[in-house]
Amino acid sequence: MDKIVIQGGHPLKGEVNISGAKNAALPILVSALLTGGWNTYTNVPDLQDIESIKLLLAHLGARVESDGHTVRIDAGGLCEPEAPYDLVRKMRASVLVLGPLVARLKKARVSLPGGCAIGARPINLHLKGLSLMGADIDIRHGYVEAEAPRLKGAEIYLDVASVTGTENLMMAAVLAEGETVLRNAAREPEVVALADVLSRMGADIHGAGSSVMRIRGVPSLKPVSAPIVPDRIEAGTFMVAAALTGGDVTVCGCVPGHLGAVIDKLRLSGAELAIRGSTIRVTRSAPIQSVDIKTLPYPGFPTDMQAQFMVLMAVAGGLSIISETIFENRFIHVSELRRMGADITVSGNAAMVKGTPFLSGAPVMASDLRASACLVLAGLIARGKTEVNRVYHLDRGYEAMEEKFARLGAVIERRPV
Ligand code: EPZ
Repeated sequence: MDKIVIQGGHPLKGEVNISGAKNAALPILVSALLTGGWNTYTNVPDLQDIESIKLLLAHLGARVESDGHTVRIDAGGLCEPEAPYDLVRKMRASVLVLGPLVARLKKARVSLPGGCAIGARPINLHLKGLSLMGADIDIRHGYVEAEAPRLKGAEIYLDVASVTGTENLMMAAVLAEGETVLRNAAREPEVVALADVLSRMGADIHGAGSSVMRIRGVPSLKPVSAPIVPDRIEAGTFMVAAALTGGDVTVCGCVPGHLGAVIDKLRLSGAELAIRGSTIRVTRSAPIQSVDIKTLPYPGFPTDMQAQFMVLMAVAGGLSIISETIFENRFIHVSELRRMGADITVSGNAAMVKGTPFLSGAPVMASDLRASACLVLAGLIARGKTEVNRVYHLDRGYEAMEEKFARLGAVIERRPV
């Protein structure tokens, strides 16, 4: 168990390279289950969640090899239809194996992922879609048991534009008989990235990135070599850190087109952003302005950037209303920010953030991935020392975050507890 210790007050300066996107890498690595032969994925981020999914894929019978940021997977020997509780509980995105297992092995037994700190996070829509495609679904002893001699294309309306729900059903549909239509499909760049990889494997997919996707089943797929797209949330996190510290940071190797809402809100808050190709240079000399945000499905403001942006608003010059519309309990970081002097009042799914002149360093506790990032950001500007405990949350989704911040001039280090 480690902690991260930060001495605040140092503006960030320099360049930071963005890693591959966790939330693209997870479904793309799982998509290897849909075929035999070696798939090669590059620019895979070095994260705890990636290690977890590799363990699960190996448990199912796939051969998994890693070399730095390259991962190779051959699921020709896929034989085990069960994803056990002790693997799934570590990382709820494991539920993504459900669709591919039913598509390849005609059955699956996957532990229900259960809730997490930010919400109940049911998978009813994943199951609704599989059932409409002809799978028999049972819930027994905390496991989903799904079985289908052959999945058939279906018309599926997603009551919520679920990201992994869309991904799971896309992977179930690519080998199904006939056409599947996903209505109210998620439009996130990570969904598009998965669709691109599946298409390169031979899948017949139209409409990725729009709310209506059409997937026509094919008899089989072939292995592929593909890079993982850059992580827009990591990029956004460093952009907010640059604005927060009044520094001058160039985020390199990102996709500005994936960050429209974040760019808009940062500019409104007083930061200057210069976009050139795959780089975004962020500076801020003017006082931080309070802006309101509302988290929405893509291309709206991402819920995964809500906690980070709240830190910027905590030291802005007025009152900001932050509405969280995606998850029911994603303000856990508020109590920790309050301990650092932030003036935040939560009412339902809205947080009223009244800017204060400064935050004070304190020992704080991370509760989930993006909350831990928010506490690191708060430590970068707080007066004095901040200790962020339980940084295993951070290691799930950020590759070497403290090293990247240290290279930008932050006084930050990881220490064993
Ligand atoms: C993905 O989670 C991301 N994770 C999350 O990132 C991200 O916050 C979320 O999408 C929203 O953008 C991965 O891609 C691995 P959802 P996911 O299904 O797919 C409800 C991070 O920090 N819902 O789009 O689990 C659900 O309760 C993580 O990297 C149902 O009701 O999110 C939530 O309120 C955190 N029934 C809303 O939809 C379902 O069957 C959006 O959830 C599925 C979802």
